[in-house]
Amino acid sequence: MAKLKFENVYLEYHDKNDYYSALEDVNFEIKEGEFVSIIGSSGCGKSTTLSILSGLKDPTKGTFYIDEKESHGTSINRAVVFQNYSLFPWMTTKKNISFGIKQVEKHKSKKEIEKIAKQYLNAVGLDGIDNKYPYQLSGGMRQRVAIARTLAMEPEILLMDEPFGAVDAKTRVVLQDMLLELLERGNEKKTIVMVTHDIDEAILLSDRVFFMADKKIAKEFQVDFARPRNRQDIFATSKYKELRQEIMSYFYKDVKENIGNEEVVL
Ligand SMILES: Nc1ncnc2c1ncn2[C@@H]1O[C@H](COP(=O)(O)OP(=O)(O)OP(=O)(O)O)[C@@H](O)[C@H]1O
Ligand SMILES: [Mg+2]
Repeated sequence: MAKLKFENVYLEYHDKNDYYSALEDVNFEIKEGEFVSIIGSSGCGKSTTLSILSGLKDPTKGTFYIDEKESHGTSINRAVVFQNYSLFPWMTTKKNISFGIKQVEKHKSKKEIEKIAKQYLNAVGLDGIDNKYPYQLSGGMRQRVAIARTLAMEPEILLMDEPFGAVDAKTRVVLQDMLLELLERGNEKKTIVMVTHDIDEAILLSDRVFFMADKKIAKEFQVDFARPRNRQDIFATSKYKELRQEIMSYFYKDVKENIGNEEVVL
């Protein structure tokens, strides 16, 4: 049974006198517990796909299903890490995380909620910053808080739009490893869809990689590495090098087609 399914999905953005077609006939199925990454050139429709998966937008045409049932609007079993940091600037770190938990655990006491918030702050390596405001944190720290807040809600479906896009290379590695570890620690397997520009990140974390081009999923890649995964072991294999090469060749082909046959002078 598919956890998430797009059937002939189209999405058009409408302005006053104009419209833009961002997705055209997108079809895919994602199983429960699967981790899928979406990659592709800027503007190809990745965030748009995620906004339908999150329920923030409905398809203009076609159907989006969750657990084989037609889905419209948002629900508390789905949580999103947005492309830009999405913390409330007027709330401390602890309050930001507690706010997320409160949305899904309405019956829990303040004390219980704060305990969970602390556990997740600890899990992302941020002990002792509970009372700091987002402006007092570095970009990488803010993104860790945003991830902690989303994971603390224990969503069935986790949607992430370039969650590590705005952090430096070293922090990115730390956050990827943290995510791998957190996913393996959980009791229930979450269904995850992540948008990324980083092919290594997509391979390291995912079970499947969707390559988007021409407003649809142009190609799917299966990533058959056993879990728990270790970056050094995976990156050393010839299987990884071949897969990376294959995905790269799709990227280059797409870029070439987009810039036409004109010679690029740098
Ligand atoms: N609100 C909007 N109104 C009109 N067009 C939009 C709107 N949002 C996005 N688009 C257009 O839809 C297309 C897909 O946008 P989307 O944000 O999904 O791209 P993306 O693949 O996430 O790109 P990036 O990698 O740059 O984040 C783009 O051409 C964009 O200009
Ligand atoms: Mg985007």
